[in-house]
Amino acid sequence: MHLEETSLQLLKDSLKRLDAGFNALPAAAENPTQPLDPRLTAVMTEVATRLHDNYPYFHPLYAGQMLKPPHPIARAAYALATWINPNNHALDGGRASSALEKEAVAQIAAMFGWQEHLGHLCGGGTMANLEALWVAGQLHPGKKIVASDQSHYTHKRISAVLQLPFAEAPTDNRGRMDPRALEKMLAAGDVGCVVATEGTTGTGSVDPLTEILCLRKRYGFRLHVDAAYGGYFTLASNLAAETRASFDLIGRADSIVIDPHKHGLQPYGCGCVLFRDPQVGAIYKHESPYTYFTSSDLHLGEISLECSRPGASAVALWATQRLLPLVRGGEFAAMLEASRDAAVQFAERLATDQRWLLPFAPELDIVVWAPRAETVAEISALSQRIFDAAAKQNLHLALIRVPIKFFGTQRNLQAGATDTVLCLRSVLMKPEHRDWLDRIYAILSRVAESAVSSVS
Ligand SMILES: Cc1ncc(COP(=O)(O)O)c(C=O)c1O
Repeated sequence: MHLEETSLQLLKDSLKRLDAGFNALPAAAENPTQPLDPRLTAVMTEVATRLHDNYPYFHPLYAGQMLKPPHPIARAAYALATWINPNNHALDGGRASSALEKEAVAQIAAMFGWQEHLGHLCGGGTMANLEALWVAGQLHPGKKIVASDQSHYTHKRISAVLQLPFAEAPTDNRGRMDPRALEKMLAAGDVGCVVATEGTTGTGSVDPLTEILCLRKRYGFRLHVDAAYGGYFTLASNLAAETRASFDLIGRADSIVIDPHKHGLQPYGCGCVLFRDPQVGAIYKHESPYTYFTSSDLHLGEISLECSRPGASAVALWATQRLLPLVRGGEFAAMLEASRDAAVQFAERLATDQRWLLPFAPELDIVVWAPRAETVAEISALSQRIFDAAAKQNLHLALIRVPIKFFGTQRNLQAGATDTVLCLRSVLMKPEHRDWLDRIYAILSRVAESAVSSVS
């Protein structure tokens, strides 16, 4: 058996406990333990078979995109909550799960040093960033949103949805926002919000918050930190000094986005947006003739753009953080440190191996590299071939197109400033990746040799 089963027993035991809470009700179901309808079994067999058509995200040889299954406790807690199916829009729909959401979100805010905040869960990083940029647009109407040219594409799209002007700030050779280029943009006086990405999706690069905060003092913009992927690394003790310096300043932002469904061990559908100033809640003010009747306490729908939301997400997140608190030196932090170690060790091997080109050392747990070849076109073609061949050996990598400038002057790659090259990419986000590095490297070496010999 490759897939974990612990959560099934957990679920069974906790379901009994949940059921006991409703003992006072008259029986409604004829026989809640009636034998299984064979049609259900038939459909579920079909479902399980259809799900074979997936990459094995749970396995250490899946070292591609930002994908992994949730922690067993999250899986069990989420499933348990679906027996109630609470809706965290209003206390009318999910009292317990709303309370759990407020506690879990406060723990995330505390991770960035915020004792006071306004925040909530939402569908994911896109939705969370939408809310942060919407608030920025309400506070600085008509002013520009600036994010780096390596920021997630969502910022440009969201700005278009919000009808706010958007501009890309150039990045340096390591994919980090260039503060000098940003300053030139700020000098025009029309920027309302700068988005700093603390861990870019492509290369895990970390925008320099020290310099960006100096610019905020001078130019007075709103600072939003997109830490959807990278945020939890603030707990890791093994970041490089430069990266650590930026992470230590995340709490100085006006708003932060972090995705529990990336590094927070949660099932999909769990993003989080945080605001430093709880007063921004006033921007969300609206009337609801249908809800907000059962309590005068805060209903989460009063401070979020989405209406219905799964209370199950909050239950799963709370349970996970109860088991694995968000503290430095803890078990959860150790998982992030293992991922980061895996990336550092993998990059070191690549850097000392003549067959590969490494543009720069990883800042978090994403490694980007390319096979050495004479021309940009050959590198791109070889990357594609290695990617395909590795998948046939059950090693699942990812591909990324990056600017050639990431390879700096160290490489004799002739191209204009805007040209890109196709590279290999791995998000080593499972702690087990560290123990599997030898096997991963052995497969990679094998497929690289055969990919090269098939062209020569
Ligand atoms: C930095 C960053 N921001 C935003 C997003 C979008 O998040 P989601 O896919 O949860 O909508 C991602 C996704 O990878 C991301 O890495």
